[in-house]
Amino acid sequence: MTAKKERIVSGMRPTGPLHLGHHFGVLANWVKLQEEHDCLFFVADWHALTTEYADPKRIKGFVPGLVLDWIAAGLDPEKCVIFQQSQVKEHAELHLLLSMLTPVSWLERNPTYKDVSQELSGQKDLATYGFLGYPVLMCSDIILYKATAVPVGQDQLPHMELTREIARRFNFINGDFFPEPKALLTEEAKLPGLDGRKMSKSYGNSISLGEPLEEIAPKVKGMLTDKNRLRKSDAGDPAVCNLYPYHKLLTDPAKCDEIREGCTKAQWGCVDCKKVLMESLTRFLEPVHARRRALEADPDRLWHILEQGNAKARIQAQQSMEAIRKALNFDF
Ligand code: TRP
Repeated sequence: MTAKKERIVSGMRPTGPLHLGHHFGVLANWVKLQEEHDCLFFVADWHALTTEYADPKRIKGFVPGLVLDWIAAGLDPEKCVIFQQSQVKEHAELHLLLSMLTPVSWLERNPTYKDVSQELSGQKDLATYGFLGYPVLMCSDIILYKATAVPVGQDQLPHMELTREIARRFNFINGDFFPEPKALLTEEAKLPGLDGRKMSKSYGNSISLGEPLEEIAPKVKGMLTDKNRLRKSDAGDPAVCNLYPYHKLLTDPAKCDEIREGCTKAQWGCVDCKKVLMESLTRFLEPVHARRRALEADPDRLWHILEQGNAKARIQAQQSMEAIRKALNFDF
């Protein structure tokens, strides 16, 4: 076997079922990366606690669901390590050590911190020590494995910047130790929600990865298209149509060209276009649903995958922590 090129680490918080937006935004990238790189993907359950601390019971149920979504989407435990953050305690130890050298002002400046605490103010009290330190825990997750690249969505870029700054500060104080990891953004176009806004479960405009095709069909029928196109005889504009970004990701390129032609020349109606999209979605989701059903039928296997992944991650994390303790003269 040839050596894999980069050490890649990424995680997701277990806060509910994943949808197509997650798939094309991040997950598809993970599935590709596992082929060529040395990848660890983990369930960031401690991170979920930063916003869910008042009702922590919910998190447990979402953990197997997230792993199920990942494997259904094509992550293969033979090709990457899948594990759970809270089951590798070294994340917490490194978080504590990094918190000693991280200036509070860096964390207060973090735009995600300001945005999220404002967005959720009124619903949740996020003026906690843990929430402010979210990026410190994230930095620990990443540098504990000496990751060189981290596939994330655009929204995580400020956290990646802080991760690099904290790693740099550690290196400055304790000698070159950690590589500074870079963010890997997905090349794929963004997939908007069914109504054109960002796809989000809370907007009710999403298609989840486990959703039965019978439930998806009426949603596709109801999708908004070019609102200036009132009849089939009017020419449409794919650039302002909500369906077209879906076709670009899901329908083969030759068919996409045909759709574009048909739409702009008023030869194709939106109903035809939706029919093709439903076919494309079916083609995409059938293997995803098949992998899901296979794993659902064998829940022990899911926990076994996670346990094996935890064990593999732990070996690496323990090695790292030993060296880190030594670097800090805490190797008693
Ligand atoms: N903050 C990430 C998110 O909300 C999840 C996460 C936690 C993560 N730790 C990480 C992502 C480490 C990449 C690397 O999506």
